[in-house]
Amino acid sequence: MSDALQSAAIEILKMNDRGTYTVPTKGLYPFQWNWDSCLTALGQRHFDPLRALTEIETLFAHQWPCGMVPHIIFHARDDGYFPGPDVWDCRRPVPTSGITQPPVAGFALARLLDHAPELGARARPLVERITAWHRWFHATRDPQASGLVAIIHPWESGRDNSVDWDIPFERVPTNGIAPYTRRDTQHADPAHRPTKEQYDRYIWLVERFRSLGWQTDKLHDASPFQVVDPGFNAILIRSCLDLAALAERMGEQALAQENRAMAERGLSALPALWSEPHGQYLCLDRSTGKLIDSPSSGGLLAAFAPIPPKHVARIAATIDGHGTPFRVASHAPGNEGFDAKRYWRGPVWLVVNYMIADGLARAGARDAANAITQASLDLIHKNGFAEYYDPLTGEGLGGTQFTWTAAMVLEFLSLETV
Ligand code: GLC
Repeated sequence: MSDALQSAAIEILKMNDRGTYTVPTKGLYPFQWNWDSCLTALGQRHFDPLRALTEIETLFAHQWPCGMVPHIIFHARDDGYFPGPDVWDCRRPVPTSGITQPPVAGFALARLLDHAPELGARARPLVERITAWHRWFHATRDPQASGLVAIIHPWESGRDNSVDWDIPFERVPTNGIAPYTRRDTQHADPAHRPTKEQYDRYIWLVERFRSLGWQTDKLHDASPFQVVDPGFNAILIRSCLDLAALAERMGEQALAQENRAMAERGLSALPALWSEPHGQYLCLDRSTGKLIDSPSSGGLLAAFAPIPPKHVARIAATIDGHGTPFRVASHAPGNEGFDAKRYWRGPVWLVVNYMIADGLARAGARDAANAITQASLDLIHKNGFAEYYDPLTGEGLGGTQFTWTAAMVLEFLSLETV
């Protein structure tokens, strides 16, 4: 059965491969997405490590001079997606969006090279580029040097319509935006997607940043939405640490030290986001200085970074307490915001399962990690390679033949045999 699953996963990765980058799925997402690509490389490394490296290289070929790596690269024209390049209007040689996504590249590159050390010389320039991205985060998204970086648009979190954003989103207006037609609801069930009001706010923010000429050092202070997401910060911390170890092996001491210092700043600030009653971390609304009372998977994803052991144990218990057979629901079932089928307001996403399982395993919580691995593989056996899943029934939802789901299956299969 594992062999069949493995072949099916490889087939999906090849089918969605556009030569030097991979689309998340055809139709719904016809371009290159930032964190999708880095996590996709983890799947590709199992059958073609060089192709995996190319995936990350292509992404970084579109890094902005300031260091930011955009969340979408519009390699080819396709009118099936909104907002397209004209709405972003970022004036790049190849059009891109103007916001970023969870910085998982450092982790992905380090893991790829563990498996394929022969690619080390070719990968060296990427170590520099990824460090520049990490540096950009600390410079532009943490202006008060708190140690943690903020997102300024929900799409940056990768968890687009999480309940986490509902309260800070009330500060984002909807008036004055240009009329538009959504495309996502033509590919997927509108009842499972973000609402129209949320979409208006997403677009308002894009128009605001565009009106400031996408000067990325100005956008944080100009945004009515500034949220510190523990999962996002854990990904940055983990990428800094793994990249530091890689840089050290390459003899790049200065880069190693810089990444380690950034990780340490993050790690010492992260505990302030811990919530004892929820048994997990919470987002911080930087505009009000208050924690957002929303138990989502972002606060569980914090386990991807080396957090204190007592928090690891509580997070494992919190996930158990959800009682969801397919593990990590994107919002705590039983909490009022939970919606089993609506995108990031309840459904299981395999990438999140994977990063949490990886963090728990590294922290020594092997049983909790194995339970996630088994639940994830069980989910795919039963319901195929969907974009996301109902956490209670396991029903596959959203796009089908989904790239990062397939990539994570290859990772989970390799963990299973360790
Ligand atoms: C959705 C997801 C985001 C992902 C993108 C492409 O926007 O919320 O995390 O990167 O789709 O798969």
